[in-house]
Amino acid sequence: MAKNAVITGWGFYAPSRVMTNAELERIVDTSDEWITSRTGIRERRIASDGETTSSMSTRAARVALDRARLRPQDVQMIIVGTCSPDYVFPATACMVQNDLGATRAGAFDIEAACTSFVSALAVARGMVVSGAIQNAVVIGAETLSRFLNWKDRTTCVLFGDGAGAVVLEASNASVGIESVILHSDGSQAEKLMIPAGGARIPATQGTLDRGQHLITMQGGDVFKLAVKSMADAAEEALAEAGLGLDDIALMVPHQANIRIIEQVAKRLHFPMERVFVNIQRYGNTSAASIPIAISEAEATGRLRRGDKVLLVAFGGGFTWGASVLEWFGAHDGVRPPGPLERARGAIEDVVERVRPV
Ligand SMILES: CC(C)(COP(=O)(O)OP(=O)(O)OC[C@H]1O[C@@H](n2cnc3c(N)ncnc32)[C@H](O)[C@@H]1OP(=O)(O)O)[C@@H](O)C(=O)NCCC(=O)NCCS
Repeated sequence: MAKNAVITGWGFYAPSRVMTNAELERIVDTSDEWITSRTGIRERRIASDGETTSSMSTRAARVALDRARLRPQDVQMIIVGTCSPDYVFPATACMVQNDLGATRAGAFDIEAACTSFVSALAVARGMVVSGAIQNAVVIGAETLSRFLNWKDRTTCVLFGDGAGAVVLEASNASVGIESVILHSDGSQAEKLMIPAGGARIPATQGTLDRGQHLITMQGGDVFKLAVKSMADAAEEALAEAGLGLDDIALMVPHQANIRIIEQVAKRLHFPMERVFVNIQRYGNTSAASIPIAISEAEATGRLRRGDKVLLVAFGGGFTWGASVLEWFGAHDGVRPPGPLERARGAIEDVVERVRPV
């Protein structure tokens, strides 16, 4: 049994199409000033016609796998956290499995709205630490632009598209993912949901006409609960890890609203200088926000080996959770696979797939 699960690869993909607040001013009755002051969002990325949750997931996963020096055919599990899957079923993770050529991997999705990535991390960690698997690609990805009501200014200004991925591997290191805690409260489910299109309210012409296949939200209620739940979850995850806030080098919160993030930090008496924020450029990318933020934090030098990191999320359901981990970083001393090694891996994979059974 492995002692620990560590993150050995990370990466993200954001669509190239940028939608600014100025552009939204032309679509709904809003203003750059309102959006920026109430949410901190200046722009978000919007998937192009050909892009889907699975295609963005695959791109993020490829970067993460390259960094972990793991070939797709050696991946044992692919877990996609998303509430905007390609299909009701099959799972988006299956599309990713095929696109990656991860011929030996199991694949499934996890849906806990914006808490999906932390939930997927909890499941993957459990599987790795129990010895069931040696590695997993854990993805958070969303194409929420396809589920937004572009006539509803209270929601359409908030969300964006993108994907982030990490590779989790078994390790005998004494540290890794130190704790993950998850909570939920389904009694207020209707405060943030897509009402129709599921088995309870199947899609009909009427549901389409009423826009019930799109996101509805009571933002004020969500806001208040998010602040309290995220702060509580952070404290619980720290206690489980046997650490205090002073030990945390970087907090990476779900990027829903800068005011939520600031109030969580204030409640915890945690300095904003040690909180990673990129909501101004991406908006709320739901399940993708934390893995995108992790990748950007590493790229900008804000995550170093040995750093204790606090992840904290809140989303529809309601669901919330937090995780404390020690940043492992890339493997030591071995060069990452070059183009030749990657090409060899791809050829082996094709051979494997066409091999008669
Ligand atoms: C949505 C949110 C930004 C609204 O901010 P708020 O300060 O609560 O604003 P209110 O809802 O009180 O609305 C204030 C006014 O602004 C208006 N308004 C709402 N959206 C607007 C927009 N995009 N542009 C301009 N005005 C807007 C409202 O209609 C309201 O007008 P009224 O006073 O005439 O009725 C905020 O509640 C929020 O971020 N909630 C959490 C949402 C979230 O993060 N969800 C995902 C969780 S994972």
